[in-house]
Amino acid sequence: ANGGAKAGKTRNIIEKMEESGKNCVIFYGSQTGTAEDYASRLAKEGKSRFGLETMVADLEEYDYDNLDSFPEDKVAMFVLATYGEGEPTDNAVDFYEFITAEEPSFTNSNDPPLGNLTYVAFGLGNNTYEHYNSMVRNVDKALEKFGAHRVGEAGEGDDGAGTMEEDFLAWKDPMWAALAEKMGLEEREAVYEPIFGITERENLTKDSPEVYLGEPNKMHLEGTAKGPFNAHNPYIAPIAESKELFNVKDRNCLHLEVDISGSNLSYQTGDHIAIWPTNPGQEVDEMLNILDLKDKQDTVISVKALEPTAKVPFPTPTTYDAIIRYHLEIGAPVSRQFLGTLAAFAPDESIKAEMVKLGSDKDYFHDKISKNHYNISRTLSVVSNGQKWSNIPFSAFIEGLTKLQPRYYSISSSSLVQPKKISVTAVVENQLIPGRSDPFKGVATNYLLALKQKQNGEPNPEAFGLTYELMGPRNKYDGIHVPVHVRHSNFKLPSDPTKPIILVGPGTGVAPMRGFVQERAKQAESGETVGKTILFFGCRKRSEDFLYESEWEEYKKVLGDKFELVTAFSREGSKKVYVQHRLKERSKEINELLQQKAYIYVCGDAANMAREVNTVLGQIIAEQRGVPESKGEEIVKNMRAANQYQEDVWS
Ligand code: FAD
Ligand code: 2AM
Repeated sequence: ANGGAKAGKTRNIIEKMEESGKNCVIFYGSQTGTAEDYASRLAKEGKSRFGLETMVADLEEYDYDNLDSFPEDKVAMFVLATYGEGEPTDNAVDFYEFITAEEPSFTNSNDPPLGNLTYVAFGLGNNTYEHYNSMVRNVDKALEKFGAHRVGEAGEGDDGAGTMEEDFLAWKDPMWAALAEKMGLEEREAVYEPIFGITERENLTKDSPEVYLGEPNKMHLEGTAKGPFNAHNPYIAPIAESKELFNVKDRNCLHLEVDISGSNLSYQTGDHIAIWPTNPGQEVDEMLNILDLKDKQDTVISVKALEPTAKVPFPTPTTYDAIIRYHLEIGAPVSRQFLGTLAAFAPDESIKAEMVKLGSDKDYFHDKISKNHYNISRTLSVVSNGQKWSNIPFSAFIEGLTKLQPRYYSISSSSLVQPKKISVTAVVENQLIPGRSDPFKGVATNYLLALKQKQNGEPNPEAFGLTYELMGPRNKYDGIHVPVHVRHSNFKLPSDPTKPIILVGPGTGVAPMRGFVQERAKQAESGETVGKTILFFGCRKRSEDFLYESEWEEYKKVLGDKFELVTAFSREGSKKVYVQHRLKERSKEINELLQQKAYIYVCGDAANMAREVNTVLGQIIAEQRGVPESKGEEIVKNMRAANQYQEDVWS
């Protein structure tokens, strides 16, 4: 983000397109980088296959009131992710409010206002959430309402079903065909044209002070980092304390206390903290090796946008190593389309044929690659049988891989109790994948595990075979640090502490609930009256993964009968017991509390748990109040709308 921000640049998209000779803009609303990535891919494909003059645009960086002057012979594409409870992504909030307004204040008084606008739309959503793809649906509806002309279907990708990439691929081909017809575009054989130019800088070495070695921006490079700390500028926070919460050999759950006292960061109970991870050394090496860049890993390079509208997604000059280690999501699932692009650079014809096949045959690709959770370097290596891929321009990776994303965690402390220390409760991703010899390891959580091991001087910080350049080679920090920023969330306690609350947080879903209970204990200690607080917690076994077991007893001492912990241990008996079963057992009490306007909070797994809790709640209400189940469901819906039912869920 810092590579291309120029002072005084225009917010007028039409002017921008005219001056840079573009006839296709791809706007994106992105939270975790996928929508942004898809937008870049559409831009590349439009250019290479159809000769469209494309540009990608962050919705946050342009005005929308002049969309009514959008030229008839150009096209706008909207790639829009839906976030959380049907919300726009942070960068699309203003656009969304503008376009879904009853009467947006367009510049002209055309009737209909957007009669000249040709557009295409694709949404990224998750069907386990209630407001599935509401962003693209509502924007599409609004654009149509104001007279704009959509080409092709408004596509919808589903992360919940795990079919996002395939949904995108299935949507875009008919869209391109329809657009080609509408705009009279001729398809040509796609050839790779780089968007970024890379120059090796012989006069600079890795030790030259202007060379970025993982620092996120200029202030960090120069050692003058200051706030505001946010999604473009993380705070390098000391970790005050870190420990293991599980009591079992092969699974880990970390508790970290992140010290924000040296910053102007603040948080509120229920907010999220973003952790900026680093890729593990082994994965960086695999990538350097397969690309035949190992000898050049520290060669200094400058990366320049060859297109006036493209932005280099990290600061330069830098090194191959730093880009791979700190800026690219090298561990992520591989895109089938990207393999198609890379086929042209295969080391030999048979490997090329295999890449083409993987790029075009969905089932074959699934069987050989996705099923095994292979990342890009592993994929290349498997396909070429270890032969190096020396011909791929490195720019293809900068363009084809997502930026390394910060990961969000529900803050597990109360800001009333510890305003300058944020606690995180994170379970380490370490999954056995059938058919694959080594476990799949999550990027951020294994990085946090390494930080914890290092901080505590544990004998083998490479327990999982991963090593990290903690804070980069220029590490100027004493002790263990982690780059972070804070994101505000709407998951909040009722402002009136006497209101009863029902907390449902199995597994790491307990994180924000711990913050809530901490807060209520503190309020009680200060003499305030607090309402009934019931926490439903579930885990596998009391002896293994019962998070914060001893703390609950401490809170109980302060809160007395105002606090109750209800546990569901799923793997202790012959039958699974889950939090929703416990809720059901207490139907009468739950219903009474809800009738006393208790707030209910659900946190954790979106795919199954949160949904089932929602259903059970509807059943409890129906049964207890003697109304049909449909009425129960409706009451739950209304509770959500009134914020009496709040969710903080992820999948
Ligand atoms: P990643 O490397 O990001 O992998 C995550 C998953 O992506 C994998 O399990 C896999 O399904 C898929 N994946 C990644 N790479 C591949 C591949 N090559 N092939 C196939 N599949 C792949 N987590 C907590 O533990 N505690 C919390 O309090 C918490 N709060 C959250 C709050 C919010 C609002 C959100 C959005 C998420 C929260 N999470 C929380 C989840 C957290 O953000 C991370 O997603 C999680 O820790 C995994 O991160 P990771 O980098 O270790 O794993
Ligand atoms: P399980 O893994 O034994 O099935 C935290 O992960 C706890 O949530 C575990 O006890 C886990 O049980 C449980 N869990 C798994 N699926 C669930 C679901 N659909 N609803 C509620 N809890 C679930």
